[in-house]
Amino acid sequence: MNKSTRKAIIAGNWKMNKTRREAKELLEAIKPLVANAEGNVEVIACVPFTNLETAINTTAGSNVKVGAENVHFEKSGAFTGEISADMLVELGVEYVVIGHSERRQYFGETDETVNKRLLSAIGSGLKAILCVGETLEQREQGITEEVIAMQTKIALQGTCEKCIKNVVIAYEPVWAIGTGKVATPEQAQDVCAFIRKTIAGLFNQEVADGITIQYGGSMNAKNCAELLAKPDIDGGLIGGASLKAEDFNTIVQAAVNG
Ligand code: 13P
Repeated sequence: MNKSTRKAIIAGNWKMNKTRREAKELLEAIKPLVANAEGNVEVIACVPFTNLETAINTTAGSNVKVGAENVHFEKSGAFTGEISADMLVELGVEYVVIGHSERRQYFGETDETVNKRLLSAIGSGLKAILCVGETLEQREQGITEEVIAMQTKIALQGTCEKCIKNVVIAYEPVWAIGTGKVATPEQAQDVCAFIRKTIAGLFNQEVADGITIQYGGSMNAKNCAELLAKPDIDGGLIGGASLKAEDFNTIVQAAVNG
């Protein structure tokens, strides 16, 4: 199976940006621009919890899907400030970002909690965008592959061949996030291919050939085409550039054409 048979996915990760009014405005601007991607490239907006309902209402009837940026692993209970997978499903949320490096860096997320969140999300019927990525220090130490293999293997513990179909992996080198320092297409391709090899080892070649692997980290309207042309890069997880309709659309169109 080659790239053309895999699902291409361009997802915006809005992070902690946009009020509800601003979210509606941005989605209203994005919708007509990306309408032509339907059936070809999946387009997702992952938005803050407070914007989910607005986003679901605004995108109804369009090809823009809605995702959350995190989810708790328990079904319910005394977890002040947390949101469960069932709560997201009830709202109509389809995707959730899990294990973003900002959550690992600032909020004590570990490979173990990433695994618990992922199992809870897919168990409730959500699709997970699992983020993995090395720090600059780890890259300089030459342990990128070890780090990526460990993050991927631990996050996917307890998943099965059938449920892995609801998992997308985003390779996001920590040093490229929000820094303007994008990985070269070759660096990104190498790690995405390595992730695919890791999946083949965990499951089999067919599963590895079918899984969507995105690149994220300073992907923008200028550098997206080169990255998306690589054989193992099936899409992008976009931070800053997803907050501007035109730029986000340029990335979607690069995926449509690429
Ligand atoms: P930037 O595109 O702003 O570098 O962010 C990438 C990211 O973290 C997406 O999840």
